[in-house]
Amino acid sequence: MPKLIVVNRSGEESSIDVDDGLTVMEAIRDNGFDELLALCGGCCSCATCHVHVDPAFRDKLPEMSEDEDDLLESSDHRDENSRLGCQIPFTADLDGLKVSIAQED
Ligand code: FES
Repeated sequence: MPKLIVVNRSGEESSIDVDDGLTVMEAIRDNGFDELLALCGGCCSCATCHVHVDPAFRDKLPEMSEDEDDLLESSDHRDENSRLGCQIPFTADLDGLKVSIAQED
């Protein structure tokens, strides 16, 4: 099963196995990381699933939509590796991807 590495806000790293068909947000939320609120449930309207992704995987990620871009713009913690976790389906291609949960806005 592909693995996702999650770094929490304290900098602690955990490795989780991800079932087929989940997004990065769902995988993190379903593994008990309560720092990732995912308030809108994944419909790209809250930005509480903000993560920073490992730049080495940037080319493998889906293109960012205009909605995602606009939402991330509202965060004080946006950087060039920012994405919304609910907009990244976790595929086998992303095995070993490391994401850090963004600081709370
Ligand atoms: S869960 Fe709300 S934007 Fe991702």
